[in-house]
Amino acid sequence: MAGNSPIKVKIDHVIKKFQGRNGEITALNGVDLDIKENEFVCVVGPSGCGKSTLLNIIGGLDKPTEGKVTIDGEEVDGPSPEHGIVFQQYALFPWLTVEKNIQFGLKLQGKTPEEREAITQKYLKVVGLEKFAKSYPKELSGGMKQRVAIARAYAVNPKVLLMDEPFGALDAQTRVQLQTELLKTWEEEQKTCFFITHDVEEAIVLAQRVIIMSARPSRVKDIVEIDIPYPRDQATKMSPRFLELKNRIWSQVYEEYLAVRK
Ligand SMILES: Nc1ncnc2c1ncn2[C@@H]1O[C@H](COP(=O)(O)OP(=O)(O)O)[C@@H](O)[C@H]1O
Ligand SMILES: [Mg+2]
Repeated sequence: MAGNSPIKVKIDHVIKKFQGRNGEITALNGVDLDIKENEFVCVVGPSGCGKSTLLNIIGGLDKPTEGKVTIDGEEVDGPSPEHGIVFQQYALFPWLTVEKNIQFGLKLQGKTPEEREAITQKYLKVVGLEKFAKSYPKELSGGMKQRVAIARAYAVNPKVLLMDEPFGALDAQTRVQLQTELLKTWEEEQKTCFFITHDVEEAIVLAQRVIIMSARPSRVKDIVEIDIPYPRDQATKMSPRFLELKNRIWSQVYEEYLAVRK
């Protein structure tokens, strides 16, 4: 699908060191990765390996110690409304209604009130929350809040959609429902997606490529092409090819879990 597409995001030998309590920690140790336009990549790896750090660097929320990230050939050097970021915890403004939350970035982008209204209506519909436009976050379930966060991220028409375990706090059923919805939205809207998850099944059902990161100091350990055609749905998870890929990815992730425990 993204076979001959141009490169959207270029991660060029990114190294990230932190000053920890017990000295320096190398989180990322030379990460190289090209993500193509409209590609959906999922990133898996043991807890603490640097997945969120990498996402923050792509989103301009943090700076690499060495190396660089370019989007459309331009070096990322700070946060921007062009990045749609969805975090695990519902980062909605509690004092704003659903529609005002979705509109938030649009104001910063200088859109007119008419444009803001049209875009908001569109994405309320995409995530099926038209009836909740005037509700406040506290009136919504966890799944609904994450739908708002996804609508808000799409609304700013980001160059890349960055998602850090967005479904991690949801119950299994809601999670599966949101996976299906996100896939449908991605197929309709075409967007470059960088999606972190600790759930190997989730990674395979969503991604065109699964990026496996090693334990810290972390690098790209392997990249697995998911050659299962879209549209995919939950039934995809029963197919022999899915199970084969799951075993292959899981065994590599498990090796890295063991490395962390050593
Ligand atoms: N601001 C920070 N200061 C010091 N250490 C940090 C900071 N952010 C992350 N780290 C460390 O970097 C490593 C990678 O963290 P993170 O990217 O959150 O991992 P992951 O998302 O894969 O679980 C961890 O060891 C974490 O403790
Ligand atoms: Mg993380």
